Amino acid sequence: MQNKIKEIEEQIALAVKEVKSSRNLQEIKMRFLGKTGVISSLMKNLRDVAPEERPSMGKLLNALRQWSEEKFDAIEERLKDAELKKKIAEEKIDVTMPGKVRENGSYHPNTLIRNELVSVFAGMGFEIFEGPEIENDYYNFTALNTPADHPARDMQDTFYISDKFLLRTQTSAGQIRVMENKKPPIKILSPGKVYRSDDDATHSPMFSQMEGLVVDRGITLCDLKGMLDEFARKIFGESVKTRLRPSYFPFTEPSVEVDVSCFECGGKGCRLCKGTGWIEVLGAGMVNRHVLEGCNVDPDIYSGFAFGMGIERIAMLKYGINNMKLLFEGDTRFLKQFRG
Ligand code: PHE
Repeated sequence: MQNKIKEIEEQIALAVKEVKSSRNLQEIKMRFLGKTGVISSLMKNLRDVAPEERPSMGKLLNALRQWSEEKFDAIEERLKDAELKKKIAEEKIDVTMPGKVRENGSYHPNTLIRNELVSVFAGMGFEIFEGPEIENDYYNFTALNTPADHPARDMQDTFYISDKFLLRTQTSAGQIRVMENKKPPIKILSPGKVYRSDDDATHSPMFSQMEGLVVDRGITLCDLKGMLDEFARKIFGESVKTRLRPSYFPFTEPSVEVDVSCFECGGKGCRLCKGTGWIEVLGAGMVNRHVLEGCNVDPDIYSGFAFGMGIERIAMLKYGINNMKLLFEGDTRFLKQFRG
């Protein structure tokens, strides 16, 4: 039995030498000290030992148990300590590491201007109407007092899809769709994309317009002028004035070109206004009687005004953008500047 005890002692010493983790240690501990472990079964064997040797053997066995318990405890402490240190080292945060940057997106300048225009006109009681981008000849031209042989068709280089269908060249087409479906009073704002075969620094084959239409009893050019003054102050600044110049559109009579006083130089003349003190911003006029008649609106009872502006043009003026292409290229270095 004494030899057996010695042997076990050596086995324990060997086993703990190789131990790798506290879980592994627990297994070894169970093997020797568990209820059915090596030392316990040896205790049971004491019964077979000669009675006179029993006390001394018992002592030896107890010493072995104590010795191994202490050994396991000491190793367990060491292992736990090492494991904790390792965990702490792994979880250490390096505060000098670059952080994760989450970039915010920004609205496109066109969207910013469109939203601004919508909110200005919504404040004056306008409702939004959005017409189709593929239009037929009737809505885009004929109903707008521009029949097939009308020279004004040459004012806009049209992309035709077929004899009858085309990409709308102006949001004015929406005026007809609205008047066909709604009796006056009408107060409609119609934003949308339009298409023309035109391409240079200030023109693009696709661009956006904002159309306005007001039809009611007793609407005059003064109402148009008053509304435009309000629009100009809200968009370009409180001190800005407007001026109407005679112009021509087939669907309005009289027709006007609307200028705002230069918000850059205050009207003295600068590069932006090309020395004139005025900047052209939109086309407008009183809705032509023929157009009203075509939509079954009696021109002897009702009158109206309409206006149309290029959203890119307003964005370019307001933000000082000199090439329209920048608005379509999607270069984030350009677009980033319009956070807000
Ligand atoms: N549709 C015209 C254009 O595209 C603008 C306009 C709209 C003029 C409404 C008068 C009234 O040039």
